Amino acid sequence: MNNYLTSTIFRKALASLSGLFLVTFLIGHLVGNLQLFIPGIQGQTQFNKYALFMTTNPVVKVLSIITYSAILLHILITLYLVIQSRKARPVGYAVSVGNDTSGWSSRNMAILGTIILFFLVVHLKSFWYKMHFGEMPFQYLSDGTKIKDLYQVTTSAFKNPLYTFFYVFCMGALSLHLKHGVESAIQTVGLRIKNYQKLFKYVAIAVAFSIPAIFASIPLYLYFIEV
Ligand code: HEM
Repeated sequence: MNNYLTSTIFRKALASLSGLFLVTFLIGHLVGNLQLFIPGIQGQTQFNKYALFMTTNPVVKVLSIITYSAILLHILITLYLVIQSRKARPVGYAVSVGNDTSGWSSRNMAILGTIILFFLVVHLKSFWYKMHFGEMPFQYLSDGTKIKDLYQVTTSAFKNPLYTFFYVFCMGALSLHLKHGVESAIQTVGLRIKNYQKLFKYVAIAVAFSIPAIFASIPLYLYFIEV
């Protein structure tokens, strides 16, 4: 048992499970952010009430802590696995093996992960940090209550073309990272059922393409359409 806990297979399982958990976070986060497509005052009010709920509800707070822990675990464990595999093969292959099916994204998971980590730092600084600790504009509701106007912060951030481009670029990196990550996580957690292999591959491709594409459509919509 002790051997298992320190084995590479256990660490790969942890990397996979934390990664799959983060995909469920991404889906929830994406669904919440879709409210940014609602135009005008209705969208602003709905999104700000949602943001207030997300920052004050105790169940959401616990879920947030689990999410931060999963992000940290995923980074630390995948970093460890990369270092271990480099130690085991200190000199890279001179030529890529012809039947190497792992593809570009597999060989570059660490680079893609680093881009996503950089994205996360910039992203959390812009919205999460500002919402919790920064100076925020307020929206006054019809009943006189005032709530933090995260909608205004978000929509004005995406009026900057560079910032919008940065998001779209990072969603490209996220897509490649998810393509390889979801496929290999499904295998690592033991779903190697022969007849379903193709289906799992298609699920991975669908997840890897659709989530980042819909995420990317939000900044593009806010930049080009919403005034
Ligand atoms: C491109 C569209 C996206 C938009 C418009 C967006 C918007 C936001 C906003 C407004 C917040 C602050 C919410 C709050 O403090 O309650 C937030 C938090 C967060 N975002 Fe995003 N986000 C996007 C994409 C992403 C992606 C792709 C990831 C991960 C790779 C991500 C990870 C996070 C995390 C971890 C938090 C903190 C959540 C928490 O405190 O529980 N976001 N996002």
